[in-house]
Amino acid sequence: MTQPLRIGVLGSGSGSNCEAIMDACARGAVPAQVVVVLSDIADAFILERARRRGIPSAFIGQSRFKTKLELELEAHLVALLREARVELVALAGYMRVVKQPLLEAFAGRIVNIHPSLLPSFPGLKSWEQALNYGAKVAGVTVHFVNEGVDTGPIILQEAAPILPGDTAESLHQRIHAVEHKLYPEAIRLIAEERLRIVGRRVDVVR
Ligand code: GRF
Repeated sequence: MTQPLRIGVLGSGSGSNCEAIMDACARGAVPAQVVVVLSDIADAFILERARRRGIPSAFIGQSRFKTKLELELEAHLVALLREARVELVALAGYMRVVKQPLLEAFAGRIVNIHPSLLPSFPGLKSWEQALNYGAKVAGVTVHFVNEGVDTGPIILQEAAPILPGDTAESLHQRIHAVEHKLYPEAIRLIAEERLRIVGRRVDVVR
């Protein structure tokens, strides 16, 4: 039997997507395991979620590296991911733009989840952008990460309706529910080596 894919998760916030991935791995739905969780925010709940499961976790941020540039922080991040023998980096609410040290070290092996149907509504609070725009459909995108912001090749997308009376909170909740299903599903396809990137397109094979 092949070894489970080793995932490193980077996040800055609550970590509910990280939890969904860890759950899916633990129940055998995804042939992978989260081997390390790293955050640029010292008290981010994502770190606590990892600790509760006994998964190694660490804060990599400014206060520990006060004199260092952001690029050096990222190089340190890369060192920790390598040390944990990470094969796939999953961004889960990671609020920094990924730069060259990480992009080079894990070329084609970094994925992200974004709460809109890209290329609509990139950037921050996309569900709120969609609601304020008057869109009737919102959704979720899982994509490979490139040097742009929310611009990498798309792996999976799923729509979520915007319903009359929706608030930013109610829509966000609906989108989260889709995310928690879609992210593990995309990681399963990667772990099963079923994705081929052809230019901008990602094909699911077999
Ligand atoms: C998610 O909505 C994700 O799409 C976006 O950041 C949010 C993270 O939420 N990139 P959580 O920390 O996983 O709960």
